[in-house]
Amino acid sequence: MKGKFITFEGPEGAGKTSVLEVLMKEVNNNNNMDAVFTREPGGIRISEKIREVILNKEHTEMDSRTEALLYAAARRQHLVERVIPAIETGQIVFCDRFIDSSLAYQGYARGLGINEVLSINEFAINGLMPDLTFYFKIDPKVGLQRISKSSVREKNRLDLEDLTFHQKVQEGYEKVINMFPERIVVIDAEKSLEEVVEEVKKELKKVISF
Ligand code: TMP
Repeated sequence: MKGKFITFEGPEGAGKTSVLEVLMKEVNNNNNMDAVFTREPGGIRISEKIREVILNKEHTEMDSRTEALLYAAARRQHLVERVIPAIETGQIVFCDRFIDSSLAYQGYARGLGINEVLSINEFAINGLMPDLTFYFKIDPKVGLQRISKSSVREKNRLDLEDLTFHQKVQEGYEKVINMFPERIVVIDAEKSLEEVVEEVKKELKKVISF
């Protein structure tokens, strides 16, 4: 029996990580569901090391193509070690960010080209696209205000970018949603955490028993 691969996308401060924490608690209390919660870049040893290299605030000289390749490399290793084995044994994989982040951030906001970044990622993922993706839609200004108020979240190199960059990330995501409308479900992330969780669960019930 094959499992499912479900990804969560959105700009900074959209709240996807908080929603995933709530879902994880509920899923852990539900004995009928065998699930894995993970994140990108990271999730396993090698990819967490690549994450440190990419997001280190001191690495201001990093070239955009290098950045795109490092995300793709972290993605490959995480798929091979964590995602593919779980799906093959019938588990549901919930992943905080995946390929759409690269298309929006590196492809569009960094200006490398969505199709160019898609092609290096096609090499990395070798055909494994998510079954379902949630896009957490939020005004970038509201998202940035949320992260500036958060005391638990440590600022990374991409957080140091200005509002214009984050507005481009949002435009990039809109283009990506138009490329994959059958896979991506848009969630209004400006609503309360409880409302967003309910909305996500309603959509999840269409593809898994939950
Ligand atoms: P996080 O804050 O959601 O953990 O993600 C780390 C940062 O990395 C965030 O600013 C988004 C960015 N990112 C990309 O630019 N491209 C990617 O492919 C991924 C997975 C994340």
